[in-house]
Amino acid sequence: MSDKLFIFDTTLRDGEQVPGCQLNTVEKIQVARALEALGVDVIEAGFPISSPGDFNSVVEISKAVTWPTICALTRGVQKDIDVAAEALQYAKHKRIHTGIGTSDYHIKHKFNSTREEIIERAVAAVKHAKKYVEDVEFYAEDAGRTDNEYLARVVEAVIKAGATVVNIPDTTGYCLPHEFGAKIKYLMENVKGVHNAIISTHCHNDLGMATANTIEGVIAGARQVETTINGIGERAGNTAMEEIAMILHSHKELNITTNINTKKITETSRLVSSLMNMPVQPNKSIVGRNAFAHSSGIHQDGVLKNRESYEIIDPKDVGIDENSIVLTARSGRAALKHRLSVLGVEIDQERLDKVYEDFLKLADRKKDINDDDVLMLVGEDRAAKQRIKLEHLQVVSGIGVQSVASVTLNIAGEKFEASASGNGPVDASIKAVKKIIDRRMTLKEFLIQAINKGSDDVGKVHMQVEYDGNTYFGFGANTDIVAASVEAYIDAINKFVK
Ligand code: KIV
Ligand code: ZN
Repeated sequence: MSDKLFIFDTTLRDGEQVPGCQLNTVEKIQVARALEALGVDVIEAGFPISSPGDFNSVVEISKAVTWPTICALTRGVQKDIDVAAEALQYAKHKRIHTGIGTSDYHIKHKFNSTREEIIERAVAAVKHAKKYVEDVEFYAEDAGRTDNEYLARVVEAVIKAGATVVNIPDTTGYCLPHEFGAKIKYLMENVKGVHNAIISTHCHNDLGMATANTIEGVIAGARQVETTINGIGERAGNTAMEEIAMILHSHKELNITTNINTKKITETSRLVSSLMNMPVQPNKSIVGRNAFAHSSGIHQDGVLKNRESYEIIDPKDVGIDENSIVLTARSGRAALKHRLSVLGVEIDQERLDKVYEDFLKLADRKKDINDDDVLMLVGEDRAAKQRIKLEHLQVVSGIGVQSVASVTLNIAGEKFEASASGNGPVDASIKAVKKIIDRRMTLKEFLIQAINKGSDDVGKVHMQVEYDGNTYFGFGANTDIVAASVEAYIDAINKFVK
C-alpha cells in the first residue's frame, strides 16, 4: 500500500508575504477555494496577530472552505496564540502553527537566550496552543542550520507536549539535498515518540534546491510538505507544490500519493499568478508557458510520432487542454467565457460583455490572443472599478523632439486634464499625472516585460511608488507600453488616494 503525503499550502501566508503579492480578503477566498478544489490538505491562511487584514482573512477563509484544515501562524508567544485561536473560531478543521528559532544564530542573536530556555519556550507554546485546539504544529525555525542532536531534543520535547505535526524548515534555503534528507532520517531514528507526530518539510529556494530538499525529506520519512503555488514565497520562494505533485505522479516507484487533483494544477497556477500580478517564468517546470512547448523540429517530429519520446508528463495530466479553442477576432462570447473558465476565472454576464468589448478591440490590434492576453483583459476590467481612471492619453515623442503628454483622468466621475513635457514619453505622462494628483510620491521601481515576442505584443508594467513612508505596487498591461506605464502608476496611486 502507498503512503499518503499531506500537502500543506502556504501560498496565502509565506507566499503572500512577498512584496507586491498582497491580496485582499475576497481574492484570498478565491485562492482558498481553488486550493480546496485542487485537494490540498492544509491551508495556511495567515498570521493573525500581524495585522487586522490577516486576522480577518483567516476568519473569512475559515468560513469559506470546508475540507482542508485551516492553519494560522504564530510566534511562540501566548498573545499570538490567543489571537490565532480567535481567528480560527469558524474553521471546521483547525490548526495552530507555533514555533521558535532553534539554530544557534537565532538562539544567540535573535533571542539572546540558551538552548535549554528555547526548549522550555517551545514546550510552553505548544501546551498553550493545546488549550485551544487538538491539532498543533510546531516549527523549529532555521532547522536547516540547527545541530541535529539538539534539534532531536527539541522535536522530542514538543511531541511530548502534544505537537501533532513538527515542521523542519530550511528557512534560509542553505541545506544540500543529501544533508536535508539525512537530517530528517536522523530525527526519524533518534526522536523517541516520533511516530506520534507527522514530520513536515518547509524548504526555501535560495540556492534552487527547495524541491530537491523536500523530496529527500520525503524519502527519509517526512509525511507532510509545505509548499506554495508557482513556488512563490519569501526571497527566492518556497518549494513549488506543482513540482512535488508531479514528481510523485511521475515516480510511482516512490509509492507515495497525495490528494492533489493534478488536472487542476494549471488553472490554479494561472489564478494565483494573475491575482498576485506575479508572472510565472516561461521555462518554469510544470506551469511555465514553455513547459510543454516543443520548438525544435527534431522534438516536434518525435512528439508527433510518440509523445513519450520527449515528454515525461502528459500535458492533460496538469489540465492543459490541447484541444482548447484558439481565440481570434471571430470568437464569440461563449468561447471567451470558456477560455476564462479554463484559466480559473469565472465572470458574470455583465462583466463578460465588458471584457468581450475589450477583447474585440485587442483582437483588432493583435492577431493571436493567448491566455496571458485574456487574463490581462480581466485585469483591465478590474482597473475599470478603480476610483482614478485613465481616460485619455496623447503623447508626442521621437528623436530630436521633446516628449509632451496630455492626460485626462476620471476621478470619481469628474474629469481632470493636464499636459507636461519630460525626458521621454513615460516621464512626460507621469509628470502630467502628477500635476493632477499633487502628492509627494516617488517612483521607486519600474519594470516592463513583454508577454510574447513580436511588435504587436502586450507589455506588462510593474511599478513601486513610495508615498508617506509606505511603498505601493501598481500593475498595468497594454499593447502601448506608455499607456501600460501610466496605468501601473495610477493603479499604485489608487491604493493610497482615497
Ligand atoms: O521559513 C520558515 O522558517 C517559516 C516558518 C515561520 C515556518 O516560514
Ligand atoms: Zn518559510
